[in-house]
Amino acid sequence: KRIAIFASGSGSNAQKLMEHFKPNTGVEIALVLSNNPDAYVLQRADNYEIPVHIFDRQEFYHTNDVIDLLKNLDIDLIVLAGFLWLIPKNLISEYPGRIINIHPALLPKFGGKGMYGDHVHNAILEAGETEGGITIHYVDENYDEGQYIYQARYKIDKGDNLEMIKFKGQQLEHHHYPRIIDGIIKKIKK
Ligand code: GRF
Repeated sequence: KRIAIFASGSGSNAQKLMEHFKPNTGVEIALVLSNNPDAYVLQRADNYEIPVHIFDRQEFYHTNDVIDLLKNLDIDLIVLAGFLWLIPKNLISEYPGRIINIHPALLPKFGGKGMYGDHVHNAILEAGETEGGITIHYVDENYDEGQYIYQARYKIDKGDNLEMIKFKGQQLEHHHYPRIIDGIIKKIKK
């Protein structure tokens, strides 16, 4: 089975997936795609000898090149790991129920357009929440709205700052994302 990862930034979650799905485990990370030529995730892909593809808005939203590439590589599952652009409708209909995202909050709270990176964690702190969490969910044509697959929670203690809650969320993401993706991809029938 073959996974493609879409990521726009650092790619720490992508790296956890690369570590989890080592060569010869029956599941291969066949491609990393990014809209950002400077994303650190591309370096991580290189370290694992995973091919990368960089695209711009014109290509992603106005051509079929990305879909053609995914089809040619026989990709079974698309995993978003810190990918910031909305997935176009034609890509969603090519991969129904086969695109998964992770979000650093307990959706439906703190999701939607503009809710990414530090914006999410700042909003959580400003709201005075006593718990935070992560959501792994299917992707539809709206930001952060597809069906939920899994949520995990962490406690927010009085005095926790941005870095602390980010760290708590990231620990959960790194622990659960590979595990959940593993369960899903193994159920996909070729
Ligand atoms: C994660 O917090 C994820 O939930 C969100 O973007 C962040 C990506 O972090 N969608 P990284 O690039 O995997 O380190």
